[in-house]
Formats: sequence, C-alpha cells, structure tokens
Amino acid sequence: MPRATVARINLDALRHNYRKAADLAGDATAMAVIKADGYGHGIREVARALQGHAPKFAVACIEEALAIRAAGVTTPVALLQGPHSEQDLATSARESFEPVIHSEHQLHWLQDGKAAPALWIKVNTGMNRLGFSPDQLSGVMSVLSAAGRQQQVTGFVTHFACADDAQSDNTARQTECFVRATQPWPKLARSVANSAAHFLQGQALFDWTRPGIMLYGGSPMIGKLGPDLGLESVMTLEAELTSVRTIKAGESVGYGGAFTASEPMRMGIVAIGYGDGYPRHAGTDTPAWINGRRIRLIGRVSMDMLAVDLSKVPDAQPGDRVELWGPHVSVDEIAQHAGTIGYELLTGVTARVPRVCA
Ligand SMILES: Cc1ncc(COP(=O)(O)O)c(C=O)c1O
Repeated sequence: MPRATVARINLDALRHNYRKAADLAGDATAMAVIKADGYGHGIREVARALQGHAPKFAVACIEEALAIRAAGVTTPVALLQGPHSEQDLATSARESFEPVIHSEHQLHWLQDGKAAPALWIKVNTGMNRLGFSPDQLSGVMSVLSAAGRQQQVTGFVTHFACADDAQSDNTARQTECFVRATQPWPKLARSVANSAAHFLQGQALFDWTRPGIMLYGGSPMIGKLGPDLGLESVMTLEAELTSVRTIKAGESVGYGGAFTASEPMRMGIVAIGYGDGYPRHAGTDTPAWINGRRIRLIGRVSMDMLAVDLSKVPDAQPGDRVELWGPHVSVDEIAQHAGTIGYELLTGVTARVPRVCA
C-alpha cells in the first residue's frame, strides 16, 4: 500500500479560478501562467485542463513550454524569460512559442533573420529585473525593423513590483511609465497584469493579463486569503494520521522539545514533513483540519512527520485523513505561519508526493 500522503488537484476549481480571472480581465484576455510545473500542480495536467479555456499560456523557460507540447497541448505559449540561446528561436517558431525579448544579447540573435517566432518586448518600468528601459525602446524597434522582424512583434510586456499592496502608488507609477513608453506603437498589444493587478480598483489591464497564483486559489493580495477573493483551492495537501497517544503535563514533543504540554493531551502524528514540502518553519498553532474540525500543529515539523494536538477531536483515529492545506485551511494561512507566501509552498511540494487529479 502506498503512503496516503497526496496532493489532490481539483481541476474544476482551476477552471473556476481561470473564469474568475477572465471575468476580472474584462476586455483584456487572460493568458494562464503555468510555469514552475503549473505552480506545483503538474504542468501537463494544468495545461490539458485549461486547453480550450485559456487562449495562451505563459511559462518561464522553453523546457516548460516543451512539456506542454509533450502533453499534446497546442495552445500558444509565451516564454517570459525569452530565448536562452539562438536555437530557442527556431524551436519557438516551430512550436508557436512567443519569446519575451528583454536583453541586447537576445536582440543580437534576432538579427540573422532566420527563425521567425512571434515576439514580445519587455519594458523595465521599475521592477529592475528584466527589460529595456523606456528610452531604449525606439532603438530596439529600429534594430528589429532593420532585421525584417517588425511584423513579428506582438506587443509589449511589463511586470509590477508591488501590485499585491493595494495601498502602494508604485503600480500607478509603473503603469504611467509603461503607457508613455509604448505610446509610439499604438497598434501593438500591451500586457501588464499579474494576478494582483486584477484586484486593483481602476487598474488599466490593456490587452492581455497574466494571472498565475490566483488560478491555483492562492491569494495575490497582502492581508487576504484566496477564498476572500472568490478563489477556490486547487491543491489539497493530505496525509494520514499514523499514531495517536496521550502525553502527560510537562512532557515535550519532537525535536528540541519545542512544545511542552501544560496538561494531559491527546496528540497525533501525521505522515508528512519538510521532505514532502511542508514548511519546517510552521510551528505550534499552525492550523490543519481533521474530521470536520480545525486542529493545530505542536512542536517542530520533522522531515517525514509532524505532530498535532487532538484534544478537541476525541474521535480522531490512526488512518484518518488530515488536510494540511486545501478548501478548509488556506495555503495562505499556512504561509503566514511559516513566514512565507503561498507561491513558495505550492511550488515546493516535493516529487515524493503524488499529484492525483480529480
Ligand atoms: C512576468 C510575469 N508575469 C506574470 C506572473 C504571474 O504572477 P502571479 O502569480 O503573481 O499572478 C509572473 C510570476 O512570477 C511573472 O514573472
């Protein structure tokens, strides 16, 4: 019998969240961001589930785009980090991948006039990771024009640094900068919005949005959980209660004796740990769910197991299923307890945990 530790993937919830993104996008079209193995959910299954719903996907690198094709999915795919070699341009032309060009060396590869994929141009409006500065854009467009590539340019992309913070004025500044920078090319498409930007009042979303985390039910907004935003949890991380015992007042639990019972306590051990991607920094009081009730972790998370307080669930028995995150306990809550973000938890579930799609 395989261990019952599993990540259940609800593909209906994924499609629900995509529809929500598409609705919020209004006149813009939402390209589904499915990089990092579909944010840990399995890129092949995610691509198949969204095929026919999302008219375009976005991934970080060409290996991920090729995994989509290996799954038999023919939807166009934007490559957010562009080509990593000249060869990637030929592959992109053949496979309908759309590289985002962000650097001089990539422009150089485009000058030989051979492979002809559709292209996006990345504009650096303040994030300062990738992209051409606004004053470089006319030069970039001249180089592409001289190389006979003008017709291949689909549009311009930028990325927001602070859209998760509804109070920040940074997103408005970046938007203004982007509008000014791209004004000379009004016929080309424009794309700015990550998930968070879909929830910002009055935010211009232009032609294409790029929702990622919201598709998986995670919250992109500081201080909000996914369900607060009408999103459904896609991954339920589940494991079995493998043992139950009662400890006495004064007895400690697990490594470092980090939790000590102040009174006799019924407790259980759950077969999941940081070796499965459950965060080690989630300590005592981090929530979980069993038999219709919320419980709390106690002590330190080990590699293969963790401990829970069962004093409020007298009927819990070995073999019962524990939800570590999912519809009853948002991954965003676990992230808050672990001092991280839902993105890291979802993408960090290890290969030891089978993904089971429903
Ligand atoms: C360029 C770009 N666009 C869109 C996204 C999607 O962002 P989110 O998952 O916050 O929606 C990402 C994710 O990191 C990205 O790098």
